[in-house]
Amino acid sequence: MKIFKKLLVISAVMGAIGLAPVAFAQNNLPDLGQSKANIAKAAFKEDAKCTKCHDESENAPVLSIYQTKHGVKGDDRTPSCTSCHGQSDKHLAGDKDGKGRPSPDFVFKKGVYDKSASQDRMDRCQTCHKGEKRTNWNGSQHQVNDVACNDCHVVHNPVDKVRVKKTQTQVCYTCHKEQRADSYKTSTHPIEVGKVVCSDCHNPHGSAGPSLLKKNTLNETCFLCHAEKRGPVLFEHQPVVENCANCHTPHGSNISPLLKDRPPFLCQDCHDGPHASPSAYGPNITGVQGGYQGKPSANGMGRACMNCHVMVHGSNSPAGGFFQR
Ligand code: HEC
Ligand code: HEC
Ligand code: HEC
Ligand code: HEC
Ligand code: HEC
Ligand code: HEC
Ligand code: HEC
Ligand code: HEC
Ligand code: HEC
Ligand code: HEC
Repeated sequence: MKIFKKLLVISAVMGAIGLAPVAFAQNNLPDLGQSKANIAKAAFKEDAKCTKCHDESENAPVLSIYQTKHGVKGDDRTPSCTSCHGQSDKHLAGDKDGKGRPSPDFVFKKGVYDKSASQDRMDRCQTCHKGEKRTNWNGSQHQVNDVACNDCHVVHNPVDKVRVKKTQTQVCYTCHKEQRADSYKTSTHPIEVGKVVCSDCHNPHGSAGPSLLKKNTLNETCFLCHAEKRGPVLFEHQPVVENCANCHTPHGSNISPLLKDRPPFLCQDCHDGPHASPSAYGPNITGVQGGYQGKPSANGMGRACMNCHVMVHGSNSPAGGFFQR
């Protein structure tokens, strides 16, 4: 009963400062531990230092942080305003000389004040978010190029676009124009429809592999979804085992399916000699069953080299030599 009363008081306080007790609703049960309620109370008190001035009258949403995981006040890992923005004593005290209020210790977005250095902003977030998916953050392409956590994430808004599949690309494309251009090509991964997103292949927080890929190698990343290409097969095609990007481009191409070049040219990058002649006409398939002596070469028609070499990724058939079946 006692606990219940406390909860009611807290709920009332939350109501008074214009908050739906969203974060609280699920905990509003009689068996709630006293400590949780106390944690919540203490947390709101800490925030009140700031929320007495920064309330719902603000242009940008500030209090809506209570609708996010950063606002679950019954959880003692939850940040208060100062965990991110710093103790900000000067800001709190105001300016006695009347020259305006000094900025808080850490500003994440340019507004009245300039934003803090990107490394400082990252460090704030990293006080709680080190490790796990961010084990390789330090030294990652984003970190060394000053792309801070909140260049991708928003924390005061309950909707964080970069973590929503349908809207993630909007955030990435603000900086990666080339990938946006690729997404308009005729052959692409189903990225625009939100079926495959950038973070299905990349870990934007850093990676032990190349190009921020989720896995240690490019092929391993492709196998996450194209497991059937993993092999091993009886007859291997060396460039496939080596690197899918020998022939494919991941983001988009005008040559289907996601090819770097049009066969036969794609194949001729590595194969020469009379059999793989670039000529569309000529006796270039001599000695081969069904060869077209003096006739238009099958190399340049239809599926080009794949007219005969149908299993370019390698073959598991005992009769699959030269990838013909
Ligand atoms: C006495 C009132 C007051 C208190 C208390 C206060 N602030 Fe401010 N804060 C302001 C004013 C005034 C501004 C200038 C911008 C404005 O008019 O909103 C400001 C600006 C800011 C900005 C930058 C906003 C922008 O658009 O650039 C941040 C971030 C901020 N405060 C955070 C905090 C935090 C965190 C606390 C608690 C530690 C805090 N403030 C406490 C009055 C206050
Ligand atoms: C004082 C600790 C603390 C600080 C500082 C902090 N966070 Fe968090 N963050 C948390 C906790 C706790 C959660 C909830 C984790 C959970 O529920 O598993 C969280 C969750 C998140 C989530 C996932 C939210 C969700 O809905 O799943 C994101 C994204 C995030 N934080 C980004 C940031 C960013 C960006 C910063 C810096 C601007 C930051 N955090 C600073 C403690 C912190
Ligand atoms: C380049 C954009 C980008 C940057 C920079 C970025 N993130 Fe993320 N973050 C994402 C995306 C995309 C997701 C969702 C996909 C995922 O979970 O990997 C995410 C998910 C998260 C999550 C929730 C999932 C989890 O890992 O538990 C947290 C927490 C988080 N980020 C924290 C951070 C912190 C802290 C930083 C800075 C050190 C940071 N992010 C920098 C794009 C970014
Ligand atoms: C998890 C870290 C974190 C916490 C906790 C946090 N902020 Fe912020 N704050 C940010 C970031 C990052 C931004 C930049 C805008 C955004 O991400 O939504 C920001 C922006 C602001 C702004 C500027 C408004 C804007 O959107 O430009 C104000 C004012 C502010 N915060 C005040 C507060 C107050 C008051 C609290 C406590 C109720 C608080 N912040 C808690 C990280 C945090
Ligand atoms: C199907 C997996 C996949 C998806 C989805 C994907 N990428 Fe990639 N990305 C790769 C691979 C693989 C590479 C390395 C290419 C290489 O080495 O030839 C790469 C490379 C990059 C590079 C480095 C420049 C380059 O082209 O080598 C950037 C930047 C990039 N991707 C951004 C994005 C963005 C932004 C998205 C979302 C719109 C995205 N990627 C979606 C697999 C993917
Ligand atoms: C604020 C700008 C910005 C945003 C937003 C951003 N990036 Fe980046 N990204 C960069 C910069 C700068 C680099 C390093 C220079 C380069 O390689 O283009 C980079 C590098 C990369 C690379 C590695 C390129 C390589 O050559 O190894 C990948 C992959 C990548 N970003 C993916 C993403 C994804 C996925 C998102 C969205 C979740 C994203 N980025 C959002 C700025 C950004
Ligand atoms: C997150 C899952 C995922 C990953 C990882 C992935 N793909 Fe895909 N891939 C798909 C989906 C889904 C399709 C569309 C299949 C369909 O439409 O039937 C596809 C289609 C393709 C196609 C055929 C495109 C076309 O126009 O028909 C190629 C080629 C391809 N992927 C190559 C790759 C390569 C190379 C990699 C590694 C760099 C890779 N994929 C990584 C999910 C993935
Ligand atoms: C030697 C060039 C080459 C390499 C290397 C290669 N591919 Fe392909 N891939 C092709 C060609 C050519 C096609 C079109 C086949 C056709 O039309 O018969 C294709 C088609 C595909 C398709 C769509 C049709 C299908 O078979 O499902 C996927 C998915 C695919 N490749 C994935 C991969 C993956 C994953 C790797 C790396 C393990 C890879 N490819 C390596 C040449 C290559
Ligand atoms: C990146 C280089 C590269 C590309 C592109 C490439 N190949 Fe290959 N291919 C090789 C290598 C290396 C071998 C194995 C060594 C050899 O026998 O010459 C091979 C072997 C072959 C073989 C002979 C297999 C055997 O048992 O001797 C055939 C047939 C073949 N490739 C067809 C193709 C076709 C068709 C394409 C285009 C879709 C293609 N290759 C694209 C590098 C490549
Ligand atoms: C009309 C069917 C056909 C077409 C089209 C064709 N090939 Fe072949 N290819 C074969 C046959 C059959 C063999 C086996 C030859 C043998 O038994 O000696 C072969 C063998 C090969 C070999 C291995 C032997 C060698 O000569 O190196 C390679 C590599 C090869 N083809 C590449 C290609 C490339 C590249 C193209 C397209 C430019 C192509 N082929 C077009 C039927 C064809």
